[in-house]
Amino acid sequence: TTALREQACQVLEANWTGRFTKPAPRLYPHQWSWDAAFIALGWMHENQERAQQELRHLFRAQWKNGLVPHIVFHRRARGYFPGPGVWETHRSPDAPARIATSGIVQPPVHATAAWAMYRQARDRRATRAFLEELFPKLMAWHDYLFRERDYHSEGLVYIRHPWESGMDNAPLWDGIEQRMHLNPGDRPRYRRVDTTLVAEADRPTGAEYDRYLYLVRLFAEAGYDEARLRESCPFLVEDVLFNTLICQAEQDLAEIAAELGDDPEPFRQRARRVAEAVNRKLWDDRRALYFDYDLVLDRPIWVRMAACFTPLFAGIPDGLQAARLVSHLEASGFFNWDGSCYSVPSYDPNGLGFSPVQYWRGPVWININWLLIEGLARYGYTEHAAHLGRTVRLLVERNGFYEYYHPYTGEGHGSEQFSWTAALVLDLLA
Ligand code: DGY
Repeated sequence: TTALREQACQVLEANWTGRFTKPAPRLYPHQWSWDAAFIALGWMHENQERAQQELRHLFRAQWKNGLVPHIVFHRRARGYFPGPGVWETHRSPDAPARIATSGIVQPPVHATAAWAMYRQARDRRATRAFLEELFPKLMAWHDYLFRERDYHSEGLVYIRHPWESGMDNAPLWDGIEQRMHLNPGDRPRYRRVDTTLVAEADRPTGAEYDRYLYLVRLFAEAGYDEARLRESCPFLVEDVLFNTLICQAEQDLAEIAAELGDDPEPFRQRARRVAEAVNRKLWDDRRALYFDYDLVLDRPIWVRMAACFTPLFAGIPDGLQAARLVSHLEASGFFNWDGSCYSVPSYDPNGLGFSPVQYWRGPVWININWLLIEGLARYGYTEHAAHLGRTVRLLVERNGFYEYYHPYTGEGHGSEQFSWTAALVLDLLA
């Protein structure tokens, strides 16, 4: 494990730019929002200063309305598509004038990372100053989500782009993307870079990229006006993972507030409200699983992702629901005691359109496994958690720090030297 820890540190060190940590050496040369939070969870064990800088750099690019952009562009980096020109964020009155960013969000893990950093810190005094600095920004970020993204004021926030889920080409979005029919004139013209850097078979398809870019153009043309987008966007989803993470982030923000002498109750209340809404609207009692909800068609999306089990992470299910989730996890091929597959693949291994190598259509991702390990431990499933922790360690030890892995062979796919894989391994080893 010492060797593994050293290798993990080397990955983070190699991707450190002096201002923030790149998710990967070439495929992702800028700063990404949820990557930054996971990366901070690794740095905090080795170098608090870097962990803090990671979040500081991200929040420096926060929009006036509280939005935390999913990409903060690095001025010196080249070779990424879509770059700042495609996003045209100057059309929004809220975007920062001097920092180039994208115009969408990613899952809100930041308060969770900040609170973990504080608990981990040896020098609480210095870290407290950091918490004080970040607290209002985290509040503005969460306020943005509940103010702009809670369509029916029901305690659930929506995402409006597959990239906002963090699980870009998950089979979750197939139905919506099929409904987004593009005439030849609607098809955006662009040239991808990602498929020149890693295997094309590991990445989303051209038809998917057409739709990603179509949505970006829709946002820019609407001037990023959320009231307009809420009515016109063909992609509006209440996602299980996103709402789980905002629920936990509110719980962590409550802890931060209490630590700083503020009233934690409003944050606790909001967390409870999300948890209740997730249980009311996203829980499917017959199938014993949480499902995403399509706001455009006004119906659930019955696609089984590993992410559908993550409400365990935020303490959302009650004891009985948790027990049913865990049996479901074991019975469905997601979780294997016998090593027949590296647990837990991102998508149902028996699901339609499963691929062991294609991004979010089946490969094992370490962040989802980390969330499940924490969630299982939270409910007292310590053997399950320990087993998952072991498979993750083995997977990385044998195959290196990849972006994602083939669930049967363990072979690494996507980018090598992937930062959050290294960071979360550091956290698991701690
Ligand atoms: C990418 O470029 O693949 C990212 O996931 C989009 O943010």
